[in-house]
Amino acid sequence: MSEYWYKEAVIYCLDVETFADSDGDGIGDLRGLIGRLDYLARLGVTCLWLNPIHPSPGRDDGYDITDFYTVDPRIGSLGDFAELLHQASNRGIRVMIDLVVNHTSDEHPWFRSARSSPDSPYRDWYIWTDSEPPDRHQGMVFPGEQRETWSYDRTAKAWFYHRFYDFQPDLNYHNPRVREEVKKIMAFWLQLGVAGFRMDAVPFIIELTEPGKNPCPMDFDFLTELRQHVQWRRGDAVLLAEANVEPDRLPGYFADAGGSNSRLHMLFDFMLNGRLMLALARQDPEPIIEALRDTPQLPRGGQWATFLRNHDEIDLSRLTAEQRADVFAAFGPDENMRLYDRGIRRRLAPMLGGDRRRIELAYSLQFTLRGTPVLRYGEEIGMGDDLALPGRNSIRTPMQWSRAPNGGFTSADEPIRPVVDSRDYGYQKVNVTAQRHDQDSLFGWFERMIRTLRESPEVSAGTCAHIDQKLPPGILAHRADGSTGTMVFLHNLGTDDVRVDLSELYGEADDPNQVFGDRDYGPVGRLDALDLAGYGYRWIRLCRNPGT
Ligand code: NOJ
Repeated sequence: MSEYWYKEAVIYCLDVETFADSDGDGIGDLRGLIGRLDYLARLGVTCLWLNPIHPSPGRDDGYDITDFYTVDPRIGSLGDFAELLHQASNRGIRVMIDLVVNHTSDEHPWFRSARSSPDSPYRDWYIWTDSEPPDRHQGMVFPGEQRETWSYDRTAKAWFYHRFYDFQPDLNYHNPRVREEVKKIMAFWLQLGVAGFRMDAVPFIIELTEPGKNPCPMDFDFLTELRQHVQWRRGDAVLLAEANVEPDRLPGYFADAGGSNSRLHMLFDFMLNGRLMLALARQDPEPIIEALRDTPQLPRGGQWATFLRNHDEIDLSRLTAEQRADVFAAFGPDENMRLYDRGIRRRLAPMLGGDRRRIELAYSLQFTLRGTPVLRYGEEIGMGDDLALPGRNSIRTPMQWSRAPNGGFTSADEPIRPVVDSRDYGYQKVNVTAQRHDQDSLFGWFERMIRTLRESPEVSAGTCAHIDQKLPPGILAHRADGSTGTMVFLHNLGTDDVRVDLSELYGEADDPNQVFGDRDYGPVGRLDALDLAGYGYRWIRLCRNPGT
């Protein structure tokens, strides 16, 4: 066992609103989720990350919050939340929540007060300026949906800053009272028993915005402050951050100048995400090798969180125009599949043409490469998307539980969002009930894959390295080394069957065997003639250290 629980976790991300509705009002709720914990335990999930659970006008799917100290009454009560924590913990499952404190909703009482008068005690909780900022049309996150980052507020008679939509005013982190409030919010949820936070938009939280100033100073020490605060309140709590920044900026999010992991525990691996998509599109492992090589080494305790799909578009902005064009051509050929000129608003299964071999290959890659895997709800059964829905809602449709009307998500006629009803991915065909009794289903595959992963703690808790050896085109070989032993992985991104010689890795003391793969390839021998089918993959245990 690693001393860091999050290094051996399998994180499952879900939005309570679209997961399971227990009271028939069309909206998923906490009691519905509690009823599905056994399903999640069976899948092998060890930690949940809940998308925002707080009251919200819902203009950015809950990322616009009006009260940080309770749950949205539509999904239940604080009592239900405490019960969720208890029931999850009984099954060995931790719960993390989204912490969205770069901004509030413009309907938050703090902002209502702030805009009402310059004398409001909350005026300085937001970022204001009296004259039109010269950079008001710069730095938009949602081009096409957002026109500016500074908007004029007629009530306040001043301009306010919003990195995201104009209904999401940014909090002012120059103000010590805002910092204290955020610590209080974190302490509140830790006291209730959450295992940590998925921190939204961290680069923008630590950016000390001033009109006309670009770049603005960054206050990395605030992350150290938050880490200390969190760790004093709950020793094993974890901060998992969204910080999609250039590789050379990443170390500062994990460590102080001394290099120790005094800031965030985990960061989403956006670099690997984009490169993985490129590798799958080109059927060439080189982009993955580059990502492993070009991202910084992490300090002890630091960890990547890997993902293929999340609740947003796949962000390809860190690829070159040519690379992006290749991914668009392969996975987002229609204009309607793309978003903000940089991303793809589809689920993985339809992107890969529903090809089971490629879906397994992609998830086998994600789960065996460095870091802690994060899985988006519904991916384990190969759910599809609904491109008729606007923007990112295409991938935020309700969970498909059964063939019952509305996929068994709700007994109401009108679910919060339509359940996917298409020929190939509709709930009649793609649903949990059909798959959980079928060993050959994608769900059955995920269950076995995650169980094997848990028996292989060197993956994600150990080191991950590319095996730099001449191999046939399309083949990635990598290894995981930890105190428990060594695993070797082969993935064939191409369609041709190949034979690979990895005998250089073989030691006389080793007794290698395949513990997981797309098929049974027979004895592994001395690794000198390893067959691998097109889109095939093999997990080979090279050695297990005695006593581990
Ligand atoms: C990042 C979240 O992932 C996204 O869904 C949201 O719209 C923005 N932050 C604004 O909170």
